[in-house]
Amino acid sequence: MAHTVALGIDIGGSGIKGAPVDLATGEFLQPRLKIATPAESTPAAVARIVDQIADEFTDDLPKDAPIGVTIPGVVQHGVVRTAANIDKSWIDAEGEKIFSDALGRRCLLVNDADAAGVAEQRYGAAKGRQGLVILTTLGTGIGIALLNNGVLIPNCELGHLEVDGHDAETRAASSAKEREGLSYNEWATTRLQPYYTALENLLWPDLFVVGGGVSRKSAKFLPLLHLRTPIVPALLENQAGIVGAAALAADD
Ligand code: BGC
Repeated sequence: MAHTVALGIDIGGSGIKGAPVDLATGEFLQPRLKIATPAESTPAAVARIVDQIADEFTDDLPKDAPIGVTIPGVVQHGVVRTAANIDKSWIDAEGEKIFSDALGRRCLLVNDADAAGVAEQRYGAAKGRQGLVILTTLGTGIGIALLNNGVLIPNCELGHLEVDGHDAETRAASSAKEREGLSYNEWATTRLQPYYTALENLLWPDLFVVGGGVSRKSAKFLPLLHLRTPIVPALLENQAGIVGAAALAADD
């Protein structure tokens, strides 16, 4: 029987957040729990917190409720392959096994942007959209999800596309805006414009969805961009990782 509820847990640089998700609506069934990411975010330290979050909710969930976890890196068949903005000890760690062992039940591990993209496609800004949808999350790094007719092509790392001789996320992520003290206007015209132009010229998407905390301020920068592709803010904001992790776990 198809699952109606799943637990999603989203590992970020500053917080690890989880909530049970109603898979019909993409809404949280209980308020989310957030615990600070440990300063040394090693696999063992992070697994302890993921276990603590799961413990908070599993008693109220069906015994077979799927559990999905996100991480800000490439995840190939349960193994973490990159760690651009997390502890380097994650590289080649068997993340899915580490979490499944810590929780004593199976978990699915996915890239954070992939989860957010699935959430926006099923419940948010790209709901019902056919063709190629590209979600970009602008945060500490740039995460990308590619979905073609609703089907995810996982681990697309075009946040690291070389643009004007630089790794794009070092110039166009919202962390670069903060670090360099750029105005929305400067950031949009000198950083986002070349980045999105490069993406649309290479991939010819039908829709861009812009996520990450800064998407709340999208009215300050999206109208400044000149693109042939429609570009819209994400709707699920910081819930997208949790919701997408839960949805992908239920598909697994
Ligand atoms: C990582 C991606 C991740 C993104 C957002 C990038 O630096 O390479 O895997 O999705 O940051 O966290």
